[in-house]
Amino acid sequence: MAVPHMKPWDVAVVGEIFADHIFTGFPHWPQPGEEVIAQGYVRELGGGSVNTACGLSRLGRRVRLVGLIGDADFDWFEQRLSEFGVEMGGIRLEHDGTGITVSVSMRDDRTFFTYPGANQGLAEWLAVPAVVADLAAARHVHFAMPLSRDLAQSVLPVLRAAGCTTSLDVGHSPGWLRDPGNIATCREVDLFLPNTAEAALLCGEASTEAFIAWATDHGLSRAVVKRGAQGALAMSGGVLSHVVPPTVDAVDTTGAGDAFNAGLIDAWLDDEPLGPALERACICGALCSTAPGALAALPHSPQLRTLRERTYRS
Ligand SMILES: Nc1ncnc2c1ncn2[C@@H]1O[C@H](COP(=O)(O)OP(=O)(O)OP(=O)(O)O)[C@@H](O)[C@H]1O
Ligand SMILES: [Mg+2]
Repeated sequence: MAVPHMKPWDVAVVGEIFADHIFTGFPHWPQPGEEVIAQGYVRELGGGSVNTACGLSRLGRRVRLVGLIGDADFDWFEQRLSEFGVEMGGIRLEHDGTGITVSVSMRDDRTFFTYPGANQGLAEWLAVPAVVADLAAARHVHFAMPLSRDLAQSVLPVLRAAGCTTSLDVGHSPGWLRDPGNIATCREVDLFLPNTAEAALLCGEASTEAFIAWATDHGLSRAVVKRGAQGALAMSGGVLSHVVPPTVDAVDTTGAGDAFNAGLIDAWLDDEPLGPALERACICGALCSTAPGALAALPHSPQLRTLRERTYRS
């Protein structure tokens, strides 16, 4: 019989949180001073931390989201996160408003305007020992943020000592990825989770194979690269694995990488080896891209299991 885990949370997901305002269907980009009318508008919770937290919760994990939002948005966040079963006890309310991203879609391009808002206090808040002690109440801590070297040095050893494993997705953060000081952080987390563009910025070469070689040379015990519709590559214990996602009708790949992270962490919590774990991750990424936005098509466990059987076992 499986031993029940004593920690109250399977995963604490910590990072920047946004309110996304998504405008779609503009005829053209406006000239200065001109007004153009959108055909569609949606407001949704956003940020890699929210997306990965919701993905893990959908898979049946006990998830606590940790970050800062504006107090005026509390009811909206509580209502939407409760639909996924994500716990909000790790959210701090700020007078400064929730971070905002305005996404503007033309026919074949997207542009983002971002105001960091409450997220600006995140690094300082994570330096508080009580906040780190709270994170340590989870079996695994996922960072969806460019974790500074200072913070990594203060937080990661505490989490390790408390028996937590860790993962890190810094997103498209060129400054962080080009800084050699952060290589030690990539080594210190259990799972570092870049996509191809981010891996290239880190190692200075475009191919994923070059990144895997770079990771081995720099002492990362595991390496993962997300490769969009081509799937993902992983190296662990000298074994290289490549997994291709199921073919889906992709309508919007926003958040596919965050859903991938959820699938991978879900497998990690089950002690599944990294190679086969990529199957769960790729299915979550692929399914996420079948509906507009990052949250609408996140799979439940039975859906993930069924598609895994059909895709990789038949
Ligand atoms: N068009 C697609 N068809 C099928 N699967 C996809 C597609 N796009 C992404 N995926 C799946 O999602 C995973 C993660 O996607 P991707 O490599 O785009 O991550 P990312 O660039 O970090 O995304 P994000 O925009 O969320 O940061 C891929 O490894 C793949 O399994
Ligand atoms: Mg990503």
